[in-house]
Amino acid sequence: MPALFRPEEVGDADFSWTRKYGTVFRMMRSFGRDNLFVSDPKALRYILNTRGYRFSRSQSMRFGAQLVTGKSLVWAEVGDQHARQRKIMEPAFSHASVAAFLPVFQEKCHIAIDKWRDIISQNGGNPVVLNVHSWLARLTLDAMGAAMDYELGSLEGNSENQLAKEYENLFSDSQYNRGDGRIIFFDLIGYLPEWTIHLIRNSPDASSKRLKKYFTTANHVARTLILSKMSLLAAGKDAGKDIMSLLGRFRSYCFGCRLAINLVLIVFSALLVAGHETTASTMAWLLYELSRNQDLQDKLRREIAESQRRRGSEELTTQVFESMPLLQAILKETLRYHPIQPRTTRTATQDDIIPLSVPHKTADGKFLNEVAVKKGQQILISFAAYNRLTSIWGDDAHVWNPDRFLNDNGTTKTGLGVISNILTFNSGERSCIG
Ligand code: HEM
Repeated sequence: MPALFRPEEVGDADFSWTRKYGTVFRMMRSFGRDNLFVSDPKALRYILNTRGYRFSRSQSMRFGAQLVTGKSLVWAEVGDQHARQRKIMEPAFSHASVAAFLPVFQEKCHIAIDKWRDIISQNGGNPVVLNVHSWLARLTLDAMGAAMDYELGSLEGNSENQLAKEYENLFSDSQYNRGDGRIIFFDLIGYLPEWTIHLIRNSPDASSKRLKKYFTTANHVARTLILSKMSLLAAGKDAGKDIMSLLGRFRSYCFGCRLAINLVLIVFSALLVAGHETTASTMAWLLYELSRNQDLQDKLRREIAESQRRRGSEELTTQVFESMPLLQAILKETLRYHPIQPRTTRTATQDDIIPLSVPHKTADGKFLNEVAVKKGQQILISFAAYNRLTSIWGDDAHVWNPDRFLNDNGTTKTGLGVISNILTFNSGERSCIG
């Protein structure tokens, strides 16, 4: 477990174990809990796509999700109407809805760029060291807030804004670099009854206090927002196109189906949690890779300049981004190579037989084409290991090389993931909505 949670580089254990034991093997977590570690494409297609709802999120994962976001989409399962919650949210994430946020995102980017320019000019134009990751986290937080019609002002260093304050380094402070005690604790919570979440949320340790404070503030902000949107809608006024209005509009259609207002409320904190640090860290990796690759950086600048020249004074749209092949390839390769969430966990809800892509040799020399699992079997799915399988990505799978998406040079189609066979956004019913 320490190898998974405190690696030198994310995925180290996943890569070395997969090299040694193959794409499916058995491992033990704390308390001797048996886990099936999987990165085999056919097995993943079965678990995530074909029989998605037969393999639920593990109890400890749900517990953690509930702690931070409440009973949100990130927590929900079949019995908790995951599909229904998802259906409510999907219109707000359609291509057209998201494309409409582009001017909002651009505006936030301009604020960040101006801030960086100011810092450099204050230093007499000399090079300065910026913590790019921290700036990007503030940028995505403000962009996500704006998409929900809420000005967080974290780029402006708005110390008055309580939510922005609660959010600063929330995850690195409370989740990462887990010590042995926290590793065991997170495995242990899988065995606890649901009511104990109140005890954990109210426990006096610093990270629980932090999470609780965030949770309370986020709920308060969400409630104020959604109620104001709904009263605008009720008065027949335009409530705008932001995510919360779209959700509020759905809510107003849905009085008949008794959709709980709490469900809409928790969407706010779930989206902030799921969308902000993931996007910021991915962008930080992208800039890092470009900074090590001057030639590619120059080529990308040329592609952007050429696109700007062609566009002239026309508005910037998502189609413009999509028409830049090198930019697309760099984004995809960064997502493949640096999956921000390297794994997920699932539990088999019934006895099942999981098919495999290639026969797997067992310790006693037999070959298996499938793996039988019992109800309750814990499964650890490694997005990181799958994203680097040489059988899919070729011999240079462990090299960051955007060319593979430019030439489509033999990358095997696996039917997994939401874009270009990459598993970074998960796959199937519970793939990333954002
Ligand atoms: C680079 C950015 C992102 C990455 C790498 C990412 C990755 C993921 C992954 C791996 C999952 C599956 C979690 C699991 O089942 O273990 C997920 C789910 C989810 N993501 Fe993202 N995400 C990103 C951005 C976003 C954004 C911008 C939003 C919202 C605005 C968002 C909202 C969600 C939600 C609501 C879920 C739960 C979906 C469900 O269970 O049906 N994500 N994301």
